[in-house]
Amino acid sequence: MTIRSVMVGCGAYLPARVMTNADLEKVVDTSDDWIVERTGIKSRHIAAEGETTADLAEQAARAALAHAGLDAGQVDLIVLATATPDHTFPATATKVQARLGMTRGVAFDVQAVCSGFVYALAVADNFIKAGQAKVALVIGAETFSRILDWEDRTTCVLFGDGAGAVVLKAEEGRGTGADRGILTTHLHSDGRHHDMLFVDGGPSTTQTVGHVRMRGQEVFKHAVVNLAEVVEEALAANGLEPSQIDWLVPHQANKRIIDSTARKLKMDGTKVVVTVDHHGNTSAASIPLAFVEAVQDGRIKRGDLVLMEAMGGGFTWGAALVRW
Ligand code: UT7
Repeated sequence: MTIRSVMVGCGAYLPARVMTNADLEKVVDTSDDWIVERTGIKSRHIAAEGETTADLAEQAARAALAHAGLDAGQVDLIVLATATPDHTFPATATKVQARLGMTRGVAFDVQAVCSGFVYALAVADNFIKAGQAKVALVIGAETFSRILDWEDRTTCVLFGDGAGAVVLKAEEGRGTGADRGILTTHLHSDGRHHDMLFVDGGPSTTQTVGHVRMRGQEVFKHAVVNLAEVVEEALAANGLEPSQIDWLVPHQANKRIIDSTARKLKMDGTKVVVTVDHHGNTSAASIPLAFVEAVQDGRIKRGDLVLMEAMGGGFTWGAALVRW
């Protein structure tokens, strides 16, 4: 028998305000045509004034717990992936813990930018497999709108705000690919590429929050290669062919990057969950937001095999194979 981290519930939250490409045309020198052609993005959600990452995360967590039929008192662990925490410290996860009324267990943040959700999933899975937690909340939550330079058209058109969460529960499996739950996770980082995607501020450097800076074209090239490699690695580790994957749930940075990964897997577009058109890039929140959308509209069904993959600043990248 093998301990598996089974996904027993999921939930998401998006701020009410929607910003379209037409709205952005009034802010910077850009066009709906350029944004759609280069990225696939048509609109994104933006947090209201005063609405923070913890607010978004709390709503997603509550929805995921309700879906799982569990209450917060049963949760042993919260791992929250974010690059836009409410404060430099303490962890936003502890704020969510308090809001949920949890007075026991462990809560902390994970920082891997756009790969954050895959990282957080791997961390929680390892806690569960090590017997250190039985029920875990894994949250990806971001308010990227707060760290954008709204005068820089090369970045401000790309990102959005939101949160998604899943509940993991320790269950016994057979140790085969037929088990429900997380089958394998695969994480990578390469710190040499720091300057291609970073925030130009921080407590120990400038004592300011800073803004996102990106060399888009170079990030794009690395993303295509790294994501192709990590999905191959995930398939090989499980002895699977791409045709056996029911759903690809990729990080939603750019439709062209998503299409490239799908093409390499020879995966039909109808098996790829795409939300970048209406969410933009929500960093650590993008995979759980896409996953929840496809679960809620009935595309992803219990027992389906789902491949998640992401790449972000650091560079960090990774994949998770999950049977829902
Ligand atoms: O989530 C973490 C990982 N992040 C990513 O994966 C993002 C990866 N990168 C990308 O998605 C793409 O590189 C971008 C969408 C950021 C940019 O697309 P691109 O096809 O690589 O465009 P580019 O940077 O080569 O820029 C092409 C042109 C430039 O003008 P010139 O020099 O050719 O005259 C830019 O100045 O487009 C111009 N441009 C814009 N034009 C209108 C850049 N941003 C804009 C804009 N509106 N918003």
